[in-house]
Amino acid sequence: MAEELTISSSADKAEKYKNLLPQIVGLIHGESDMIANLANMAAALKQTMDFFWVGFYIVKDDELVLGPFQGPIACTRIKLGKGVCGTAWQKAETIIVPNVDEFPGHIACSSDSKSEIVIPVIAQGDVKMILDVDSDKIDDFDEVDQKYLQLLMHKLESTLN
Ligand code: SME
Repeated sequence: MAEELTISSSADKAEKYKNLLPQIVGLIHGESDMIANLANMAAALKQTMDFFWVGFYIVKDDELVLGPFQGPIACTRIKLGKGVCGTAWQKAETIIVPNVDEFPGHIACSSDSKSEIVIPVIAQGDVKMILDVDSDKIDDFDEVDQKYLQLLMHKLESTLN
């Protein structure tokens, strides 16, 4: 497919996700290099959904290590159970944080980040990486983001099995 996304900027959030998902699947289809695919996923999400920060942390031994992302520079390593990312890894479940100031132990990579959603990517029964999305608006993520971002991560999981 052409390296170009076609998403109407006037569409609502669910419509944007619905249009975007098959295009991202097309982008990663046939490419076996994980870093290349994560980089394009982060770029496609940032470009289309206008998130403040979007990227991956990859499980390496007992830490999450920063992977491909789009947005301001970020902390490079997060321990199991620390911050929103380390908690989503430990629990192996999606976490939505409406107000990062109210999440105990939140790791502030940027003071402009106000709300956050973190989705684990699970293969062979283990969390392999997490997708972290930050917004500069309070309470910016809901079940629509959860549904479509989880669907997208399931597509990624199927390439890891
Ligand atoms: N806020 C995250 C850290 C990663 S940055 O937001 C990019 C956390 O609490 O785990």
